[in-house]
Amino acid sequence: MTNRLKDKVALIVGSARGIGKGIALRFAEEGAKLVLADNEVEAGQATAVELGVPFIRTDISRMSDAEAAVTTALKHHGRLDIIVQNAGIYPWQLIENTTSDDWDSVMAVNLRGTFNAARAALVPMKAQHFGRMLFTSSITGPHVTSPGHGHYSASKAGINGFIRAAALEFSGYGITVNGVEPGNILTEAIELHRGAAYIKNMEDSIPLGRLGSPRDVANAFLFLASDDASYITGTTIVVDGGQLLPEGNDFRLLPP
Ligand SMILES: NC(=O)c1ccc[n+]([C@@H]2O[C@H](COP(=O)([O-])OP(=O)(O)OC[C@H]3O[C@@H](n4cnc5c(N)ncnc54)[C@H](O)[C@@H]3O)[C@@H](O)[C@H]2O)c1
Repeated sequence: MTNRLKDKVALIVGSARGIGKGIALRFAEEGAKLVLADNEVEAGQATAVELGVPFIRTDISRMSDAEAAVTTALKHHGRLDIIVQNAGIYPWQLIENTTSDDWDSVMAVNLRGTFNAARAALVPMKAQHFGRMLFTSSITGPHVTSPGHGHYSASKAGINGFIRAAALEFSGYGITVNGVEPGNILTEAIELHRGAAYIKNMEDSIPLGRLGSPRDVANAFLFLASDDASYITGTTIVVDGGQLLPEGNDFRLLPP
């Protein structure tokens, strides 16, 4: 622990489990004052109790919930330095089987949730002339994709566009806006929904030979939230174990 976020107030949306919980644990280690938000009450409260921090039930697709989460952070700590909007859903569904409602439900959380978080956090961050807005994007969408990720890919590519636009608009307010693009990260959700065969296949396609951990992703968020990143805005960091690098499947074959 090096106190890189000492006394910084951070609201982490989508922090009940998985990557978001990893970010919360990492930020807590570095001295941040946390407020956790998630739409899953039981898991969210359990994580908050583990860390001894406040929790607010938040459906980030609703602007009123985003505003209430920001208000909770202000009520507890008097300011808001960092917001991480990590909540995201990734149903696996071919485009030909996707209805308009399916499409809208992914966009509502992943993309509108991103806008809602930024819009709600903007008010105190602009007033205090300081803020770090951070978003969980993905390599899926901005760089690569696979069958069944049409709506998800569109939402994550959209997040990157929003990061650039918000970074530019908020640059005069002392607010930086950045994101992290995880590759394949081993979370409870991935284990549950994708299974062992998927995970083995992914391990084989990742040059560093393993899936990432929530802590791997959290370390990139920590850097972007810290003073070390004060001159960085409008960009994303890829955390993928080199998965984007190979030109083909035979990347472990070396010349004689
Ligand atoms: N796991 C991966 O390999 C991977 C890779 C790239 C990007 N991501 C992104 O990372 C983020 C976290 O993924 P994860 O694998 O930890 O998933 P997860 O399902 O374990 O965690 C997502 C969290 O967001 C919460 N959430 C969902 N909908 C919400 C809503 N409407 N309002 C508030 N909270 C909500 C969930 O309750 C959960 O706690 C997502 O944005 C996902 O798209 C994950």
